Amino acid sequence: MRENVLHLKAPGNWINDPNGFIYYDGWYHLFFQHFPYAPVWGTMHWGHAVSRDLVHWKHLGIAVFPTKSYDRNGVFSGSAIERGGELCLYYSAVRYLKENPENIHCAPEGGFETSQAMITSSDGFHFENWKDKRQIIPVIHNREMADPADTRDPKVWREMGRYYMVLGSTWEKKQGQAVFFISEDGEHWEFLSRQPKEAFGHTLECPDLFRVGDQRILLGSPMGVMKDGLEYPSNAMGWRAEFQPETGKLELLGEGQLVDCGMDLYAPQTTLDREGRRVMIAWMRMPKAAEPENSEDGLPWNGMMCLPRVVEVKDGHIYFRVHPEVEKHFAPAAAAEMTVLMEGWKEQGRGMGIFRIKTKLPEGEGLNIGGYRIWREDGAIKTDRSQVFQGISGYRTCFSTPQVEGECRLDIFVEPNLIEIFVNEGEYVLSSVVYDMKPFVEGKADSWYVFS
Ligand code: FRU
Repeated sequence: MRENVLHLKAPGNWINDPNGFIYYDGWYHLFFQHFPYAPVWGTMHWGHAVSRDLVHWKHLGIAVFPTKSYDRNGVFSGSAIERGGELCLYYSAVRYLKENPENIHCAPEGGFETSQAMITSSDGFHFENWKDKRQIIPVIHNREMADPADTRDPKVWREMGRYYMVLGSTWEKKQGQAVFFISEDGEHWEFLSRQPKEAFGHTLECPDLFRVGDQRILLGSPMGVMKDGLEYPSNAMGWRAEFQPETGKLELLGEGQLVDCGMDLYAPQTTLDREGRRVMIAWMRMPKAAEPENSEDGLPWNGMMCLPRVVEVKDGHIYFRVHPEVEKHFAPAAAAEMTVLMEGWKEQGRGMGIFRIKTKLPEGEGLNIGGYRIWREDGAIKTDRSQVFQGISGYRTCFSTPQVEGECRLDIFVEPNLIEIFVNEGEYVLSSVVYDMKPFVEGKADSWYVFS
C-alpha cells in the first residue's frame, strides 16, 4: 500500500479536512474527506491512513462511504473516540433534496439537509458500512437549535463521565455558531446549547474544543471572515475559551489568532498523542492539482495535510510547535545537497527530498527558496510566493506574521508543494502551498538538514 512521509497527501484525486484523528490501539488513525474519482471536491467519503509515529503514513483506502438514505450524498467531516475498546467515528451525513442533473456530486444552492451519524469498528481497520452505521441526531428543523443544512462536523469528547459534541453551524446563514449536544452513552444525544459569536463569520465549520493544561482552546474555521474579495474567505482561527459543561455556555477570551499566518491551512483537528500531548493536523488547500509526474502512480492529486503540530499555551498565546517525532527524522547536511535534492524532485516522486533550514533572521535579511521569498521587515516575517504560484489568479501571494519581539529563529520545512515556517518554536507558523520551485536556495541560512 502507498506510503507517505511527514505530510499525508491525497492518495490520488481529492482530499480535504482531516477527520477521526486518534491514537487507538497502538496506531495513529487519520481519516480525511476524500473524493476518489477526480481531483475536485465531490460526494464525500472518508479515506483512511495509519501511522505508528505521525511521520510514516500508510494509505488504507476508503473506510466510510455513502450507503444509507441519510448519507447518500456525502460522509462529511467528523471525529473519533474510543468507547469500551471500540473505535467510534462520528460524521455529518448529507442528503441532497434536489439533484443537479449535470453534476450529481454537488447540491444546488440550499438543496441539502444534514444529520449526524456514527459508525463503530471493533479494531479500527474494518468498517461495515451497511451494518454498523446509525443516525444519531436527525436533521434539525428547529430554528432555536440549529440549521437543517449547515450544521456539521461533530467533534466528540468525554468529560465528567459524559460525552459532549460540538458542531459548527449558522444562524440563518448570517451568524456562525457552535452547537453543543450531550450524551450519557455516546449514542443518544440531547441538545445542550447554541453559541453564536461574531467571530464565527456567517457559518462555523470544524470546531474543536479541548484543554491544554487548565486552558480550554477552541479551534474553528469561520466562513466569510476575509473581506478582501480573494479566494479562501474562510480561515482557521484559535481562541482561548471558557466552557461551562453544565449549561453549554461558551466564552471566547480575546480576539483569537490565526492558526497559520499563510492562510492556506484549514479545518484543523486535534487529538492526544501517545504521550498525552495535544497534536493538531490540518488540510493545506491547493488551488490546483499537483504535477502528475510528482506522484507515485501518475494520478493527479489535490490536497495534503500540514506537519503534525503540538498545541501549547504560554502567556495567553497559542503556540503550534513542530511535533517531536518530526524533529527526530532530520540529519545535518551540506548546503550543496539542497540543490541536488530539488533537482531530483520531479523524478523521485512526492514526499521525497524533504529538507529543513534553520536560520536567525535579523531585520532586513532574508532568503529565497526556489523562488519563495522570506524576509524580516518591521520586526515581522514576510513571504512572497508569486514566483512559485504562477498562472493562479485570485489568491493571496504575500503574507506576514504579526511583529515578533527580539530574536527571530526560523525553522523551515521544504518539500515540492509546501513550505512551513515555524517562527520562534511555534510562536507563529506561516505555511504556503507552492508550485514549480526552481532548484536553488539563496540568502541567510544557518544550518541544513535532510529527512532521514
Ligand atoms: C470544511 C468542510 C466541512 C465539511 C467538509 C465537506 O472544509 O466544508 O464543514 O464537513 O468540508 O467536505
